[in-house]
Amino acid sequence: MKILLTGGTGYIGSHTAIELIKRGYEVEIMDNLFNSKITVLDEIEKITGVKPKFYKVDLLDKEGLNKLFSEGNYDIVIHFAGLKAVGESVEKPLKYYENNVGGTINLLEVMSKYNVKKIVFSSSATVYGEQAKTEMTEEMQTGVGITNPYGETKHIIEEMLKDVAEADKDYEVTILRYFNPVGAHESGLIGEDPNDIPNNLMPIIMKVSTGEIAELSVYGDDYDTVDGTGMRDYIHVVDLAEGHVAAIEHMKPGVLIYNLGTGKATSVLEMISAFEKESGKKLPYKIVGRRPGDLAIIFANPEKAFKELGWKTKLTIEDAMRDTINYLNKRS
Ligand code: NAD
Ligand code: UFG
Repeated sequence: MKILLTGGTGYIGSHTAIELIKRGYEVEIMDNLFNSKITVLDEIEKITGVKPKFYKVDLLDKEGLNKLFSEGNYDIVIHFAGLKAVGESVEKPLKYYENNVGGTINLLEVMSKYNVKKIVFSSSATVYGEQAKTEMTEEMQTGVGITNPYGETKHIIEEMLKDVAEADKDYEVTILRYFNPVGAHESGLIGEDPNDIPNNLMPIIMKVSTGEIAELSVYGDDYDTVDGTGMRDYIHVVDLAEGHVAAIEHMKPGVLIYNLGTGKATSVLEMISAFEKESGKKLPYKIVGRRPGDLAIIFANPEKAFKELGWKTKLTIEDAMRDTINYLNKRS
């Protein structure tokens, strides 16, 4: 079984590559390296003994995609590639629609041309929009009250994939809605290493701990939660990667949709204290106002993935913190 990972040098793609290679799948990666580094391939080789074939191709370069698929003979595509900075998407919406939606249209057209009809898509809990009040189940309404263009691109791509699978019954589409990925590979060789300024909690905690950012701003302590700070479902990236292996082993014609999360919510203050406990260092922070568009608490109901894929998370927040700190130490 030969699998192409678009965006495979990125954070989630690289961890997924490792789990797939470990189970004997042939993995190839395409990425434009906008938000990742080519050296990730060497780290994957150190961990697995296999260096995946890599193609520097942009999803917007249709000729490049054509060439890739004309030679690739892929059975499945796992489509990670996309831009993901929520704040930037508000400032530059067309860049996000062009790259994420336009790029996916190119990919689907070329896949169809070369008769590759199995795709797993990296979606997000963001598609639940304003429905996201507490525990999310897959059948809840999506697309209402999404607060930023990035989230809209995920919803549009989900709808596009459903339409494609409706038009051609041979398609096997699996949509994975990730909650909040954190952590790093236990080797400390790969982890989250964004090229841009992060706006998610965990990469900011990492930069505060290394002194690159002076202190963490906690966005609000007046929510109706355990300690007033926002609560999210933080999933260890290796658990998430294993979710992809389970997903590709259970594909069938039509569209399958799964939440990939732990089913538990953790507050910002709990994340800070878990990091402090594992690192033995104080993390400077201050409480500031709420971030516009944030909800109090969001977590997955992961039951469907367990029942149908036999997958559930095994790793804890403590594991994620330990692995993140190990990754930070190895990098410095
Ligand atoms: P990442 O930025 O580390 O990886 C994405 C990769 O896609 C990068 O290596 C980037 O260079 C590449 N890429 C972007 N545009 C491209 C293009 N036009 N052509 C080729 N390559 C391109 O991000 P990640 O955290 O690994 O996320 C992977 C996917 O999961 C994304 O689609 C993201 O939206 C989605 N997702 C991420 C999170 C999260 O919090 N990390 C949550 C939900 C969903
Ligand atoms: N937070 C802070 N300070 C920061 C950053 C975040 O207090 O500097 C808080 C937020 O207010 C929130 C929690 O930490 O309560 C998590 O925030 P993130 O930005 O890390 O994650 P979100 O849940 O807001 O959003 C992320 C991605 C979305 C994705 C969503 C669900 O950014 O793209 O998870 O997958 F859709």
